[in-house]
Amino acid sequence: MNEFYDRQKAYWDSLATLDPDASIIDPRDKRGYKNAYLAQMRDSTLREALGVRVSPGATLLDYGCGTGSATIALTRLGYSVVGADLSTSLLSHARHRCGDQRALFVAVDGRSVPLRDHSMDAAIAYGVFCYVTDEAEATALLAGIRKTLIPGSPLLIIEQARRHRTVCEQGLKVQRTTDQWRGLLAGAGFKRIGQAILRHGRFPTTPLIRHGLVPRGAWSALMRAERAIPRITGVWPWDYADVLFSAEA
Ligand SMILES: C[S@@+](CC[C@H](N)C(=O)[O-])C[C@H]1O[C@@H](n2cnc3c(N)ncnc32)[C@H](O)[C@@H]1O
Repeated sequence: MNEFYDRQKAYWDSLATLDPDASIIDPRDKRGYKNAYLAQMRDSTLREALGVRVSPGATLLDYGCGTGSATIALTRLGYSVVGADLSTSLLSHARHRCGDQRALFVAVDGRSVPLRDHSMDAAIAYGVFCYVTDEAEATALLAGIRKTLIPGSPLLIIEQARRHRTVCEQGLKVQRTTDQWRGLLAGAGFKRIGQAILRHGRFPTTPLIRHGLVPRGAWSALMRAERAIPRITGVWPWDYADVLFSAEA
């Protein structure tokens, strides 16, 4: 590993003492409502997007699986999952949480994927490649993931995008423009690249969710509303957006 990946690993390992969703979504969300809302959004988005692309029983790579939060949801849908992550401490949570499920976990160096070529039916990642800030490294990593996929199989990634490229979290994270994200995927050899904005980071209802003021029964409707607005506005100039990028190997 080089110094960047050492720092990245140390950062994620240091969060492993928190609640499993707080450590991988928002460590400041003390009550956990916002993290639960975002995890539900992630899981329903992946369920829909995978449902039309791969059959139940397929084997998926969950790259940057962290504490296995998405992995559990995917195994419950009938998929077999290989979770890979840089953080050995977060992976311990994942192994503990998914012990009896159809999942296995591997520690990676952050730059390469130790899996056989053409062994995966699909790959997903939630909020991972924004932590690979160097374009050449990110392209090489994505190209490595493409090689693990059976040709024609889908990659689904949910990442943060902005109108202008923004480096944050002391240089550990980058919010790329949607064009830069699509360019990365194309540079890694992926085809048929699509995108859908899922939500804006500072959507006005987010503080209400954080304080427990939006009942869980209303979350699905709110998610649909959050997704409808960016179809008209695109990424807001003052905010980041969570964007689903889809592509084929
Ligand atoms: C925002 S968390 C998301 C965790 C998980 N995908 C989820 O949905 O719960 C980002 C994860 O990416 C991992 N990560 C960051 N850079 C990585 C890299 N280069 N290779 C593998 N994992 C990485 C971190 O350790 C962390 O678990």
